[in-house]
Amino acid sequence: MPANSNRHEDTQAGGFSLSPRPLRIGALEIPSPVILAPMAGYTDSTFRSICLEQGCGLVFTELVSSEGIVRNITRTLNMLNTKASERPIAAHIYGSDPVVMAEAASIAEGLGGFDLIDINAGCPVPKIVRKGAGVALMRDPERLRKIVRAVATAVSVPVTVKTRTGISPENANISQVAHAVEEAGASALFLHARLASAQHSGPADHEILRKIKSELSIPVIGNGGVVNGERAVAMLRETGVDGVMIGRAAIGNPFIFPSIAARIYGREHLPPQSSDWMSVIARHLRGLYGEMLHENAQRKRPRQHTERAACNRFRGHLTRYLRHAGCPPRIRRELLRQEEVEPLLRAIVQALEQIH
Ligand SMILES: Cc1cc2nc3c(=O)[nH]c(=O)nc-3n(C[C@H](O)[C@H](O)[C@H](O)COP(=O)(O)O)c2cc1C
Repeated sequence: MPANSNRHEDTQAGGFSLSPRPLRIGALEIPSPVILAPMAGYTDSTFRSICLEQGCGLVFTELVSSEGIVRNITRTLNMLNTKASERPIAAHIYGSDPVVMAEAASIAEGLGGFDLIDINAGCPVPKIVRKGAGVALMRDPERLRKIVRAVATAVSVPVTVKTRTGISPENANISQVAHAVEEAGASALFLHARLASAQHSGPADHEILRKIKSELSIPVIGNGGVVNGERAVAMLRETGVDGVMIGRAAIGNPFIFPSIAARIYGREHLPPQSSDWMSVIARHLRGLYGEMLHENAQRKRPRQHTERAACNRFRGHLTRYLRHAGCPPRIRRELLRQEEVEPLLRAIVQALEQIH
């Protein structure tokens, strides 16, 4: 394990056990090194609270435009709404102008609910990249350096960066980017260990994670392909990173956090029962619907059919919740057609009772 590691490992014959010490990012103590990745369209406020309750160490807002924050756009500012149950949480912002990013970060900090400001330098979505933001910042490490410096000067909470290993095989410049970010004052690096050209497919590059971890003094949190405790332990052990970040494997499965923590710390973990799935599904859907009603009430022209929109937005989670809870595909398809919250929840109770 590298000398600059944030953690304390005891390896027993064939086993792996990490002392349960908090991960430190700047002055912030994060109770668990297993973190929920930011995922636009999925990491809504209720889901973030549920994951934290299950032992996840840190959550992020969805990706928020710095321009939108500075221009006081209601829809953008709504994305910075958080609850007391969502701590610790990072405001996850994007942009390409150091001045605008600094102002946006300062506004986010002023809202009072954020423990970190995280700068996105990894998003490959064309509409973000065209603005010179997201992964486009990897092409211009000097600009990224200026952004990190400006944001770190503007706020008192720690500033972090989430990025990738490079844009393409010919532009795999993470080492240069990581050093720029650290020198500019970032307190941690969240590293999705895939090239942007790979999108989300293929294995995470543990060799790059190991190299970057060994080169930096700030904590490095590894991300990519961690779907269970075994993969988490493999990433921690092979690379020496200070924590692991879980993306798609957490969608519809917040119980992945206690399961991974149990594997890392060598604790026992009981799998969730049907009643656990039901209670998480009900809480998540009702919470998401409540959030959408609240946002709708603030629109100049409130839209119709918020309940239907909530059920539609919940589908990505629901299909995975039901799969994890053992619900067969035919019943899943029927449930996914429902467009009213309480009837849907009653139908899920019935379906789960039939299975178990
Ligand atoms: C639907 C979806 C939305 C995502 N949105 C963001 C985002 O807004 N910001 C970001 O930095 N990464 C985003 N990501 C990338 C994830 O944070 C994570 O880096 C990626 O999924 C790899 O982790 P995994 O292999 O565990 O899924 C998104 C990924 C998915 C699947």
